Order: sequence, then structure tokens, then C-alpha cells
Amino acid sequence: MSAVVLVGSQWGDEGKGKITDFLAEKADCVVRYQGGSNAGHTVEVASEKFMLHLIPSGILYPKTICIIGNGVVVDMGEVLTELKELQERGIDTSNLRISSRAQVVMPYHKEIDAIEDQCKKIGTTKRGIGPAYEDKISRTGFRICDLFDPGFKERFAQEMERKNLLLQKIYDAPGFEIEAIYAELMDQAARLQKYVADTSLLVNQAIKEGKKVLFEGAQGTLLDIDHGTYPYVTSSYPTSGGACIGAGVGPTNISRVIGVVKAYTTRVGEGPFPTELNDANGELLRSRGAEFGTTTGRARRCGWLDAVILRYAARINGLTDLAITKLDVLDTFATIKICVAYRYKGEILYEFPDNLGILQECVPEYIEMPGWQQDISQIEHYEDLPAAARNYIAKVEELCGVKQAIVAVGPKRTQTIVSDQLF
Ligand code: GDP
Ligand code: IMO
Ligand code: MG
Repeated sequence: MSAVVLVGSQWGDEGKGKITDFLAEKADCVVRYQGGSNAGHTVEVASEKFMLHLIPSGILYPKTICIIGNGVVVDMGEVLTELKELQERGIDTSNLRISSRAQVVMPYHKEIDAIEDQCKKIGTTKRGIGPAYEDKISRTGFRICDLFDPGFKERFAQEMERKNLLLQKIYDAPGFEIEAIYAELMDQAARLQKYVADTSLLVNQAIKEGKKVLFEGAQGTLLDIDHGTYPYVTSSYPTSGGACIGAGVGPTNISRVIGVVKAYTTRVGEGPFPTELNDANGELLRSRGAEFGTTTGRARRCGWLDAVILRYAARINGLTDLAITKLDVLDTFATIKICVAYRYKGEILYEFPDNLGILQECVPEYIEMPGWQQDISQIEHYEDLPAAARNYIAKVEELCGVKQAIVAVGPKRTQTIVSDQLF
């Protein structure tokens, strides 16, 4: 049985797209299980760069079935745009499947997201994610299968009226023209219909047949609605448990959980970040790591690696392996720091605190590791990495109690060092 969940271990943008693409060569099936077009997953192959928001990062392999699972909130316009862009670049997209049970992100979700973030100040991606999940939970959302239901138009018109009331009376916004939105939805649904399927059935069949299934998490552990730095989180479950619900598989099917760990830490949007560096080192990480958002273009906040977070991610996700990315970004540093605990009002904390007031005041306790100060971006075998780089990785493994299986030393598919075959 080979069903592997890949999750972000920090605040997103760890390089999940790159690692998913790398593993997808051997996978029969790649499944997105949560989030929506707030995700921005980058895949680089030779001189080509692909930015994926909703379509799974296995799409470059025509034999790999790529599934948008029931737990994802789907902006159909965005899927169509991504499909078009891929097709124009010669990519066969006939291997895409979209869950009939996935919720639809409506134009009003994006509008409400943009308006509400002005006072919530979470710094969302404005992709309608929070409002779409709110409607799902409050049972006023629409699933892809609902769009093909004869009673859809009436229910949709009622809901649109409610949303227009909210937009016009509370938010003083113009609202939407119901007929125009309905016509757009019907057009999008018709164009996507051939991809729609009962995807839980497909994934379970694949697992039963002994095929290799990879669940591609979006966002990261600290953006999880329950386990993240609430309220500065997203509205879904990026952690490994989310894969079962968001794809319709039982937990007994999952064989391994890979935590993708960026060799330092980044965060986009608001919220506490203990190891954040507002100095020349932070600038260097941002410029060497090209830390600008794939979805919004915003500059990412940067800081040293935080092992308190990694231990927490190992616990919450049940990590069995690490995929450490962007190690090459640290190539020029003479010394590199790792946060091993937090100091809070004279007390040492080893566990990640729940209370944001406490987290905000935590001061990192660092250890210093010597840098390797050489270009590692062309290294292909683990044992060829400089001793200082191997020591850094060994320290990370020791601090979070999980071993590495993959180390990435550059953005391209080929810049990937494998120590343990995950499939
Ligand atoms: P994701 O959201 O987790 O898929 O990550 P993003 O794609 O948003 O951000 C990761 C960025 O780092 C992308 O631009 C990748 O091309 C790039 N990247 C991934 N792995 C590596 C690596 O090992 N080294 C370097 N230098 N860049 C990497
Ligand atoms: P990938 O999959 C990094 C952040 C936003 C904001 C918060 C809530 O590329 O790693 P949302 O639009 O989800 O309501 O925004 O979550 N965020 C991400 N940060 N990577 C992502 O995805 C993110 N998706 C959402 O910046 O702080
Ligand atoms: Mg990203």
C-alpha cells in the first residue's frame, strides 16, 4: 500500500509543488485535498516554469491522474484559465478529475473576502477561500454536482439575493446581477463537466489496486484552521488529517506522511512569527530565495528555521519523513541559526504555544551552526554535500525527531537529492 500525504510544515510556500512534481513521476494519482486558488505551487522543469493554483502539481505527467478532491473549494474560472495555459504550452490535461462534491467559489465569495479582510486584517489572498468555506459549513454553499441539478437556478437565485442584501445593505457594495452570474456559472460548468467525477471512488480504487497515490497539501501546518496561528490562518485543514476528509479515504490507507520543510522560515500575510528577521540576513534570505508570493506577488517575511514549529508539525501531522527544500539559499551564510526553544518572560518553552499573545512575546533561543559557504546547487548525492550542510540537516532531524528523505538544492526538478525512495 502506497498512499503518501505531503504537507507543508511551516506557513506555506515550502516547495510543495516542486516536491509533488518530483514524486509524481512515480505516482499513479496526485490529489489536492483542501484549499483553493490561494495556493501557488511552482514547478520548474528545464527552462519552463509552471505556477499552479488549483490543478495538482502532477499534471505534467500525462499518465498521472490528477484529482481536485471534495475538500477543495473550486474557482471554476481559475481552473479553466489554468487548463488553457497548460494546454497552450502543450501539456495534456485529459488526466484531470474534479470531485463532484467539491464546493464552488462564487464571485461573491471573492468580493466578500476582499471587503472583510479590510477589517479582519488577516492579509488573505482575496481568493474567496474563507467565505466559500463559511458557506460550506453553514450549508449555503453549492457543490459542483449541484450546478447540474434542475433545482439549482432557484436555490442559487435565493442565495444570491441574500448575498446582495449583505453586500448592499451592510457593506455598501454594488452587489451582483443574478442572471449574468448564473449564465457564467452554467457556461463554466458545461466546459468542466467532462472532468467531473466521484473522485473518492477513483482514489479508493487506485489504493485497492496497489497504485501509488500522493496527496498534495496546500498551505501549511501553521495555517491550519485548528492547529495554526488562529485567527491568522486559512479556512481549511492543510494538515495530514485533512487528506482523509478532503479526498474521501480512510486513515488506515495512509502509509507515510512527508513534511516539506523550507531550510529557513517564511510567512505571507499577518500574524506572529518568532524567528522573523527584519535585518540584512532577512533581506538576504528574501533575495536569495526569491521570496515573493506565487499567488499575490507579496514579499514574504523571512527568518531562521524554527525547530519548535517543526516538532509541532511532526506531532500534528505524524510526519514519517522530511523533504528539506531551498538548502542552497543558505549557501553564502557564514553562520546559520536554528531556533530550538522560546523564552517567554524568563521561562523556556519547548512546545508551540496556543495563545497568540504569548507567541508574540516569545524570544527565540538559538543555536548557531557553521555555514558551508559553497555552491551546492549542482550536487546530486547526499554524501557529496559539504559536511557543514550535512551537519545542519542532521541537527534538524535530531531536533524534530524525523529523518530526511529528500533534500532540494534548487528550484528545478533535477535539483533534488533522494536518500529514501518514498514510492
Ligand atoms: P509551495 O507553495 O509550497 O509549492 O511553494 P512555492 O512554489 O510557493 O514557493 C517555493 C519557491 O521556491 C518556488 O519559486 C520554487 O520554484 C522555489 N524552490 C523550490 N525548491 C527550491 C530549492 O530547493 N531551492 C531554490 N532555490 N528554490 C526552490
Ligand atoms: P501555498 O499552498 C502561503 C495565507 C495568506 C493569509 C492566510 C489566509 O502556496 O503554500 P486565505 O486566502 O487562505 O484566506 O489567506 O493564509 N496563505 C498562504 N500563505 N502559502 C499559501 O499557499 C497560502 N495560502 C494562504 O497569505 O495570511
Ligand atoms: Mg506557494
